[in-house]
Amino acid sequence: MIKVQLLAAQAVDKVFSGSNLNEVLHHIWQTSTQLTPQQRGAIQDITYGTLRYYGQLNAILQQLLKKPIANSTLHYLLATALYQLCYSKAPAHAIVNHAVSAARKITHNSTIAGLINAVLRNFMRQRTALLEHAKSGAVARYSYPQWWIDKLQQQYPQHYKAMLLAGNTHPAMMLRINPLRITVKRYQALLDKQGIRSKWLGNHTVRLVKPVNVEKLPGFFSGLATVQDAGAQLAAPLLDVKTGMRVLDACAAPGGKSTHLIEVVEDIKLTVLDKYEKRLTRLTENFSRLKMTNYQLICGDAADPAQWWDGQLYDRILADVPCSASGVVNRHPDIKWLRRTDDIASFAQTQLAILTALWPLLAPNGKLLYATCSVFDEENNQVAEEFLATHSDAHRLTCSNKAMNNGQLLPGPDHDGFFYALFQKK
Ligand SMILES: C[S@@+](CC[C@H](N)C(=O)[O-])C[C@H]1O[C@@H](n2cnc3c(N)ncnc32)[C@H](O)[C@@H]1O
Repeated sequence: MIKVQLLAAQAVDKVFSGSNLNEVLHHIWQTSTQLTPQQRGAIQDITYGTLRYYGQLNAILQQLLKKPIANSTLHYLLATALYQLCYSKAPAHAIVNHAVSAARKITHNSTIAGLINAVLRNFMRQRTALLEHAKSGAVARYSYPQWWIDKLQQQYPQHYKAMLLAGNTHPAMMLRINPLRITVKRYQALLDKQGIRSKWLGNHTVRLVKPVNVEKLPGFFSGLATVQDAGAQLAAPLLDVKTGMRVLDACAAPGGKSTHLIEVVEDIKLTVLDKYEKRLTRLTENFSRLKMTNYQLICGDAADPAQWWDGQLYDRILADVPCSASGVVNRHPDIKWLRRTDDIASFAQTQLAILTALWPLLAPNGKLLYATCSVFDEENNQVAEEFLATHSDAHRLTCSNKAMNNGQLLPGPDHDGFFYALFQKK
């Protein structure tokens, strides 16, 4: 447990120094090979939970500490211990004892270890008052940076509180059942047999009542199902692909949406493009798990087609552009602390550049679907409107789905936050 707390605190420390949580955890699994599955699970829970509620935990710490702790790992050790005291079922005395031992490993300074002990015991004594007081500021109440709260409040005055809270919930595990291999009904029967309860959400989408490891999913490695959020599953049907069409997925890795395109219409001429070789490796793994071989793979920059385009027009283009990922903070709670307010304008610039560069590659009457997993208008409707203002041959079609408002799908229990804008070439 000491080791778990220590590694969790170090991981959170790395995130606040600018690293992506998935990569930090991946590095820990690679280097601390002796960790048991339970210890890995605990590290995952503590790091995700601490980042999910960091605004609140930090506000409590500020009340408990006379001055900030200079050593950042110790600061995050306190935050992780507070997370456990507030949100886990572990016995309080064990959490405190392990945190104190972990502190000794970090500093070898018994005064500091005494301070950690005192701070956590003070929290236990004054818990109710401290938690109540921490509700007074928006950052502590919602656990997001102030600029993020302000932006959502300004853009969604009626929905922002629900959106902030939705981003702090545990994400649902959704599956896309592969119609080329099995029906939804038969797959749900296989899940039942394994004791995995599920709910059908329509089309080929199934939500698991409780998340499980993918290894436990029946037929996962033989391609019967793919883990994909229900909001992401809207892209392939919206693109309206038909047999024989030339289709480009311009930001394709790890292939969630492009493999779905083949499941919707098997017989298409699909090109999958991504800028990063490493991410394309994950894409090829997904294609081979689903036993899909009929596609052309290119590593290239969507904003610079001159480098890779063969000159033949596409009937359909999917531009699932890089974005702030502000619609999926429930899955990636590190995002809200890693992003900076200036990042949003810079994403919007890249997104418009990609959209503009891809447009000439589309055949007349062809359709291009612009997609983000963001809820910030600057990356969504503002990019779509700016694009339309400079492209008189582009016509924006309505994305029909009752949960979407002008292409924006707000995050909620049945799906993450996404944005879709469908353009047709006149
Ligand atoms: C939102 S993710 C795509 C997710 C993917 N469509 C799926 O459903 O699995 C965005 C992808 O765009 C890639 N990317 C970023 N900049 C790019 C560029 N200029 N050209 C092509 N791909 C890019 C990233 O590597 C990342 O894989």
